[in-house]
Amino acid sequence: MTNNYDFGLVGLGVMGRNFILNVADNGFTAFGNDLDEEKVSALIEEGDDPNKVNASTDAKTFVAALSAPRKIMLLVPAGKIVDSVIESLLPLLDEGDIIIDGGNSFFTDTDRREAYLKEKGINFFGAGVSGGAKGARLGPSIMPGGSKDAYQHVKPIFEAVSAKYKGEPCVAYLGPKSAGNYVKMVHNGIEYGLMQLTSEIYDLLKKAGKLTNGELHKTYAEWNQGRLQSFLVEITSEIFAQKDDLTGGDLVDMILDKAKQKGTGKWTSQNAMDLGIPVPTIDIAVSMREISALKAERTKADELYDRPMPEEVMKSALVDKGEQALYFAFIMTYAQGMHQLADASKEYGYELDLGEIAKIWRAGCIIRAALLADITEAYKSEPGLQNLLLSTSFVEKVKGTVNAARELVSYGATNGIPLPGLANALTYFDAYTSQRLPLNLIQAQRDYFGSHTYERTDREGIFHTEWQT
Ligand code: 6PG
Repeated sequence: MTNNYDFGLVGLGVMGRNFILNVADNGFTAFGNDLDEEKVSALIEEGDDPNKVNASTDAKTFVAALSAPRKIMLLVPAGKIVDSVIESLLPLLDEGDIIIDGGNSFFTDTDRREAYLKEKGINFFGAGVSGGAKGARLGPSIMPGGSKDAYQHVKPIFEAVSAKYKGEPCVAYLGPKSAGNYVKMVHNGIEYGLMQLTSEIYDLLKKAGKLTNGELHKTYAEWNQGRLQSFLVEITSEIFAQKDDLTGGDLVDMILDKAKQKGTGKWTSQNAMDLGIPVPTIDIAVSMREISALKAERTKADELYDRPMPEEVMKSALVDKGEQALYFAFIMTYAQGMHQLADASKEYGYELDLGEIAKIWRAGCIIRAALLADITEAYKSEPGLQNLLLSTSFVEKVKGTVNAARELVSYGATNGIPLPGLANALTYFDAYTSQRLPLNLIQAQRDYFGSHTYERTDREGIFHTEWQT
């Protein structure tokens, strides 16, 4: 066995196995490590040539097999396991070696690990990897953050294995410390928003337009040919065509309407609150997963309350409005996520290049969409852009679709079809684009009951009034 494998990977689960095979496909030699004997043998067998892909259950053999500086990626579940893998590797490593956490770790954990390992002379990267198992195998979008100098050692491998958009790799050095994990977290928050929106429009098309699964399949497939072209719209179309092996019916109808979550969407929302950046479409997407989990309560409540029978709407008109509203709400979701990134960049010193982030999301990741090419352009031409809604290139796109969102939200409210993501996207738009909001009244109330003071529209300073009672 040689001791100069280019790349090491710990954790040969679905993601790890696919990622390491991808590395080998791109001409690098790779060595895997997992405690599970079966996973190790399976990889050696699938890799075909042990001089190119090899693996061991033994950490010492694994570390000794790697060329300097060692580049070791961890694809293990986020949390304590990451710390214990780091601890087990640490005594075996040399100064200058590189550990890359490719999981969805919470960004403050990455900061802590980066600082800890820096003291020991080890470079630590938090690198978000998006695209699921298929992406890992054929080209994911990779979001690395950490030491810029050390990134030069990882760069050729990541650029080779990443997805390509018109030949450009969907990976870039994003910033110091936890920048990569943070960007991946917000990517997932956007993912939650887009998924919630696609499911709401499905509900509407089904209940108001009486579209069959076959028609839904066709509708989403057609949308995927136009400006809504995206991975999530594409797979949504395919989902409607999937038959159920157990009953022969349509699988989508057999799936329980309780959505699970692993935390990244919630973290996005929580951190946006900490930063004071509004991301209501992402917030409600998290809340909807929580409401969905209350199936038994929902079922009870359903019996207690009536809801209107949805008034039937002409299919073609509804499909047309649905496409426009979804496009509008997708824009709002990306706008909120990018806004959060802009603020987090200042708060945490990431120095993020938002154009570069949009660019590496154009292929490989779950939120890849035609829209990201436009978002990339918007941020490239105006690097200091505070919000996508302020980009002149987005004004016409929004103006041309917002009315459909208004119509559908009002239809949903009248007919008892919950469209919280769409409604929140619309409210966000209406509020963000309002020069004057009624929050003057809130300031008055605060001052009234708590002498919290207020500012005035006509002069500088802080004011308090002895309100008449
Ligand atoms: C990706 C995904 C992935 C995430 C799943 C599940 O970019 O490949 O974001 O990282 O783990 O989407 O997330 P939830 O279980 O929270 O829905």
